[in-house]
Amino acid sequence: MKLLVTGGAGFIGSNFVHYILNKYPNYAISVVDALTYAGDRARLANVENKISFHQANVADFAAMEELTKGTDTVVHFAAESHVDRSIADPSPFLNTNVLGTDVLARALLKNSVKRFHHISTDEVFGTLELDSPDKFNEQTPYNPRSPYAASKAASDHIVRAYGESYGLPFTITNCSNNYGPFDSPGRVVPVFITNALEDKPLPIYGKGQAVRDYLYVYDHCTAIDMVLHNGVLGETYCVGGGAQRNGLQVAEAILDALGKPKSLIQFVADRPGHDIRYNIDPSYIQQKLGWKQTVSFEEGIAKTLEWYKANESWWRPFKERMDLMRDKGLYNTKKVTS
Ligand SMILES: NC(=O)c1ccc[n+]([C@@H]2O[C@H](COP(=O)([O-])OP(=O)(O)OC[C@H]3O[C@@H](n4cnc5c(N)ncnc54)[C@H](O)[C@@H]3O)[C@@H](O)[C@H]2O)c1
Repeated sequence: MKLLVTGGAGFIGSNFVHYILNKYPNYAISVVDALTYAGDRARLANVENKISFHQANVADFAAMEELTKGTDTVVHFAAESHVDRSIADPSPFLNTNVLGTDVLARALLKNSVKRFHHISTDEVFGTLELDSPDKFNEQTPYNPRSPYAASKAASDHIVRAYGESYGLPFTITNCSNNYGPFDSPGRVVPVFITNALEDKPLPIYGKGQAVRDYLYVYDHCTAIDMVLHNGVLGETYCVGGGAQRNGLQVAEAILDALGKPKSLIQFVADRPGHDIRYNIDPSYIQQKLGWKQTVSFEEGIAKTLEWYKANESWWRPFKERMDLMRDKGLYNTKKVTS
């Protein structure tokens, strides 16, 4: 199988590349990534000799046309993915997530690629009430509430529309909050872990009540694997971790595991329009493809903690770059080096 992975230098994409190489050592894997501030080739350092890496923008038609030639399957992770950045400046989100998905889809149609798997998010569904029994599933209407969520919703619509209009052979997964190795130190779990390791405050939005459905990244990779190999073209699958936790619970779990005091918790101004709760129902992918979660939240946090303790040489320079960007108010897609 010749597989092209977009966004493979990002958090989930790089975990997926490691997972696939481990399970299917005979697959020929190409990675395309623009190496924005969020991309880091060091995530692929120990598999560089087993893949072919291309630095390019998914919104560049000529580059995507060239790269998709002779490819069987494309898995599309590349995206601008940080909600707060989308609120500060939506433009890169529209360019990459909406136009980039359009360009990539048209390039692979031109080259008759057999399968296109589009990675999406539960954020397209909007928000649930804290005390509601509802869950998101494949029938839930879209109601995106941040520029990030709107751009991902638009990309999902483009993929489905191209399926209808041009016969794009697609599948989509909408998954919940991933955490695990190589997560960007600008996201909640790595921020909490790396700050706690350094005895720095753990910043929590509002009163820490917003609930997310946490999915260990390995379990996300197994779901994509099943969809790639057995998913029905034209179908969407919702993937969730079944671990509903609010910000305060995540912070407390990390502090408890590290034996650090709760006094490190610091409440900060809430995100504008902060969705209060997401909750995914993964019954469909469980019934149709036999997927199931294998790593509980407690196990996943323990594994993630151990990974960050052992990999400071990876996260520290990344975190310093992110801190510098935040301090300078930079939200463009260039990597900050000084
Ligand atoms: N992280 C989560 O919890 C989560 C949850 C649900 C869905 N998703 C989706 O999963 C995918 C991957 O998320 P992630 O957390 O790994 O994101 P990430 O920000 O860590 O990685 C994104 C990667 O895409 C690359 N990229 C950005 N713009 C590009 C462009 N124009 N052309 C080529 N490459 C580009 C970046 O350099 C980076 O390597 C995204 O589509 C995201 O919407 C993420």
